[in-house]
Amino acid sequence: MKPGRLRAFRERLELVLGDRAEDAFRYLLEGRPPTYVRVNTLKADVESVVESLERAGARLEETPLPYAFRVLEAPGPLGSSLEHVAGLIYVQDLASMLPPELLSPEPPGPVIDACAAPGSKTTQLAQLMEGRGVILAVDVDPRRVRSLAHNVERMGAVNVIVARGDVTRLRVGAPYVLLDPPCTGEGTFHRDPHARETWTPRKVRRFARKQERLLRAVVRLLPPGGRLVYSTCTLSPEENELVIHRVLGEDERFRIVDARPRWLRPHTVPGLTEWEGRELRRDLRNAFRVDPASLRSDGFFIAVIERVP
Ligand SMILES: C[S@@+](CC[C@H](N)C(=O)[O-])C[C@H]1O[C@@H](n2cnc3c(N)ncnc32)[C@H](O)[C@@H]1O
Repeated sequence: MKPGRLRAFRERLELVLGDRAEDAFRYLLEGRPPTYVRVNTLKADVESVVESLERAGARLEETPLPYAFRVLEAPGPLGSSLEHVAGLIYVQDLASMLPPELLSPEPPGPVIDACAAPGSKTTQLAQLMEGRGVILAVDVDPRRVRSLAHNVERMGAVNVIVARGDVTRLRVGAPYVLLDPPCTGEGTFHRDPHARETWTPRKVRRFARKQERLLRAVVRLLPPGGRLVYSTCTLSPEENELVIHRVLGEDERFRIVDARPRWLRPHTVPGLTEWEGRELRRDLRNAFRVDPASLRSDGFFIAVIERVP
């Protein structure tokens, strides 16, 4: 990253993470990203998969999620292991497992995963629903839809329907919606050199426009009593709080709720209710950023939005 951009990124981090910014900056720019695996409980129980990985030479550490493990040592890349090919595991960052956890869908759903490929969250939703009910997994990119379909099949997620198309044209509603739109990926700088090297404040604004269009479209799919999780692996307010504020305004039919489990709280920072002198919806403080250095994960922003019954 060029020195000027690096400075700009660091200054912006201070505005969103306060006294955690320094550690987060070092972690995202210099840290070695940890690997996490999610055990696919649709196909096997957690103990047997852990045993099989450990027999093959892996060393795993538990996390607060009963099916997720940090990989301390592995005999080789787990993405090409037998367990992976057989759909017993999915290599997925711990923070990326939070949006499905917080959406917490009950079968039969239905659930709409609006930007689904390559399917890490779709297949996690399928296991949270124990393979019951229906998940409509939509993505616009044909190449990525192929990976999505492959992962859905690999994980044995029989309750998932894969659809290729622009989700802004969807006209069916659902009580559970996950929107994980494309973003600048600031929270993945430690493992994505492309995101790091191509980051500019202008790129942030470009993604923000796209995210706003997507959120505006999918919020309409939510009936009274429905829940929508908006998540990004980026930290900029323009792609997060400002998108939500622009779409929801002060609309009281929606409320942003604090759904963080107790274990997660120390690793998070509340959402902003003011940016550049402008007041935002007050309930945005219930949204949050995951501090990557604290959770040893990607940086994420997550908002749980409910439509009042
Ligand atoms: C951050 S990725 C999603 C990652 C995915 N949720 C996961 O956890 O594996 C964003 C996705 O949004 C898709 N996308 C962008 N615009 C879209 C649109 N208008 N309709 C549906 N999908 C779209 C992109 O093709 C991309 O695959």
